[in-house]
Amino acid sequence: MNERSEADGSPDPDGSADPADEIADHGPTLLSQPKIADRVYEMGRQITEDYRGREPLLVGLLKGAFVFMSDLARAISLPVDMDFMAVSSYGDATESSGVVRILKDLDEDIAGRDVIIVEDIIDSGLTLQYVRSLLLARAPASLSVAALLKRADAAFDDVDYVGFEIGDEFVVGYGLDAGQRYRNLPFIASLG
Ligand code: IMP
Ligand code: MG
Repeated sequence: MNERSEADGSPDPDGSADPADEIADHGPTLLSQPKIADRVYEMGRQITEDYRGREPLLVGLLKGAFVFMSDLARAISLPVDMDFMAVSSYGDATESSGVVRILKDLDEDIAGRDVIIVEDIIDSGLTLQYVRSLLLARAPASLSVAALLKRADAAFDDVDYVGFEIGDEFVVGYGLDAGQRYRNLPFIASLG
């Protein structure tokens, strides 16, 4: 229990509570909770318009996309299905090789479905490029990509819905991790 929640009985009166207060060794906030919320709501509205009359299947890439996908799904006013895939990039931890290993495949067949891949951040874009061609081979009716973040210099940037473009700083929070930490921060911070 922190002081803010004791003050007025609300767990997060001003939307600024940091669940990781005790390990708040990250850098400055890059995207605040309200700023992310506004943008994700806007993306959901756009997807609702674009897919009206259809029932898109959201495919989240674990683990990073789980927070974004949860908020994005609730900002879409259409019936949506959800599935998840976990992939890991071969090669060293810091540089994407573009060859990915499937750790968890989709539960459902996507043939004939309107699929939207949901990704946390497009860095080089190689992971996404690989997943995209993998899913395209399964004959979906359509395939688009929604990413919360995209680096301005991403090599692969064939992305239909982008939340924010960022530079090359490493960021954490809102699903994004550094060594599996910080995923539960409600905002996005640079690692500092
Ligand atoms: P790509 O294949 O180079 O586009 O790598 C994308 C993946 O790298 C993302 O799904 C993240 O898991 C990870 N990643 C890249 N940049 C960051 C970052 O700044 N913070 C946390 N994870 C990152
Ligand atoms: Mg990832």
